[in-house]
Amino acid sequence: MHNIDSILQQYITQGVYVVGVADGDKTNAFTAAWVMQVSFSPVLLAISINPEHYSYQLLKQGSVCSVNVLSQEQMQMAAHFGRSGVPDKMLVGTWAAAVTGAPVLQESLAYFDCKVSHEVSAGDHQLVICEVLEARQLNVGAAMLYSETGNMDNSTALY
Ligand SMILES: Cc1cc2nc3c(=O)[nH]c(=O)nc-3n(C[C@H](O)[C@H](O)[C@H](O)COP(=O)(O)O)c2cc1C
Repeated sequence: MHNIDSILQQYITQGVYVVGVADGDKTNAFTAAWVMQVSFSPVLLAISINPEHYSYQLLKQGSVCSVNVLSQEQMQMAAHFGRSGVPDKMLVGTWAAAVTGAPVLQESLAYFDCKVSHEVSAGDHQLVICEVLEARQLNVGAAMLYSETGNMDNSTALY
């Protein structure tokens, strides 16, 4: 018999992204699977973020972010940005500022440059609704799926 967590990971299809945040000179990034498009006009993405993450502080204060799409070859990148409290976290990867000032991961398949529209509470997470101002493809490859990451996020312990 499977548990809810394993059925969720197997059958709710999600990608894996590195979300870059900035508040002035301060930048950070975190791995996120809970990202989805929620409107055509304007184009809105919803990002579900644990408000205890350091990235949440910068996202709240800076009101900008980039959503960077990881490829199937970038498991180490997913794991690195999936850890909290890592010193010099942004020394991994090549980063450039998008128009909004959000840091963009140059090794990603594509990125979306966003400004925060509004926020909705959702259980133990905050849904941050972001307007997409620009999107660019940077590299070619197949997008990573959350189901391929196994228990990288230690989520089995959280259900
Ligand atoms: C594959 C994977 C998916 C994740 N998805 C999310 C997510 O959607 N939302 C979230 O808040 N944290 C998610 N996390 C956890 C954060 O990436 C992790 O806690 C991160 O280190 C927070 O970084 P920070 O404290 O430096 O901001 C995920 C982690 C992994 C490995």
